[in-house]
Amino acid sequence: MARILLENVTKVFDGEVAAVSDFNLEVADGEFMVIVGPSGCGKTTTLRMIAGLEEVTSGNIYIGDTLVNDVPPRDRNIAMVFQNYALYPHMTARQNMAFALKMRKCPRAEINKRIDEAARLLGIERLLKRKPRALSGGQRQRVALGRAIVRKPRAFLFDEPLSNLDARLRLTTRAEIKDLHRRLQTTTIYVTHDQAEAMSLGDRLCVVDDGVIQQIADPVEVYERPANRFVAGFLGTPPMNFFSGCITYRADEVCFVIGDQVIVLPQRLTSALRDYRNKDMILGVRPENISSNQFPGQANNVISATVNVVEPLGARTDVYLTNHGGQKFIAGIDPHTRLRANDTVEMYVDLEKVHIFEFEGAGRNVALSNQPG
Ligand SMILES: Nc1ncnc2c1ncn2[C@@H]1O[C@H](COP(=O)(O)OP(=O)(O)O)[C@@H](O)[C@H]1O
Ligand SMILES: [Mg+2]
Repeated sequence: MARILLENVTKVFDGEVAAVSDFNLEVADGEFMVIVGPSGCGKTTTLRMIAGLEEVTSGNIYIGDTLVNDVPPRDRNIAMVFQNYALYPHMTARQNMAFALKMRKCPRAEINKRIDEAARLLGIERLLKRKPRALSGGQRQRVALGRAIVRKPRAFLFDEPLSNLDARLRLTTRAEIKDLHRRLQTTTIYVTHDQAEAMSLGDRLCVVDDGVIQQIADPVEVYERPANRFVAGFLGTPPMNFFSGCITYRADEVCFVIGDQVIVLPQRLTSALRDYRNKDMILGVRPENISSNQFPGQANNVISATVNVVEPLGARTDVYLTNHGGQKFIAGIDPHTRLRANDTVEMYVDLEKVHIFEFEGAGRNVALSNQPG
């Protein structure tokens, strides 16, 4: 096992497309790190550089204490699991799992021992004689996992390994991967565009947009203290609501003005907003932090709105609304609250949970001081 360190890693394709820009990322020994971001943000390129399948344009990659920039893939001793399994179709599951070990001239008895161990771990003992076409998607992905495990690599790299599975199987396989990591404790870098998958799996998340790291933190931190508007909007379903408005001061209170409505911001934001008087800003509120009932001990936190659509989901009800100024937003409310389309309502935002983002640029979260870059 080993830690993995990326130092100022950049990848430019064909001298123009910067797929990965100046990545600095340290994955601790035994850690489960998830790199998450939209399609095309540079996730696969990052993994391929770590695996040695792609050269870095600049920067350094260390596995353990070894600088591996010039180490060929087979000598890096890490295993990659892909979305499309990449099993050899003419070989049985057992032969697929044995292949890499055979190439390394591992003794037959050792190969069989490792395969049997991995098969037991994955619950695929009875599938070892089958060829891939006689296996379901989930079973194939398990064989692909087994093939990675038998090599006893120093780290696992996963590239969207669940995207070819149906929704239910994705959930169970996701739990299995987490359990597997708990038992093996092998350093893992897992790439996905699926924010829910990222939140549920990662010890920490590395959130990426357009080849640039936006935030590295544990899932709760990323969710509750997003570094900027991108991170805030990318994690969570339905996504965080963003209201455009303006910061004003009323006596010693800081207010956020949305059209004809004034929200008095909590004390904790006062010092961070000192330099933003009369500036256009963005108020961010997650759907679960908006309610048709007042929050205890709070006041001056109302947004008047009209109900467009009510979506009962069982555990909660999502309500789609439009405020006076025509801004649309979503509230995730108690399923027993009676709201109907066309109702005119007062909605309350939980002042304990609101965020203020800069209007310009990346939309920095002004309440956070520990900004990357
Ligand atoms: N071999 C390549 N040649 C040129 N551009 C590439 C190549 N591979 C990836 N890219 C570009 O690099 C960017 C990142 O791609 P990729 O790492 O595959 O993103 P992700 O895995 O996050 O979807 C994209 O704009 C993609 O088009
Ligand atoms: Mg990819």
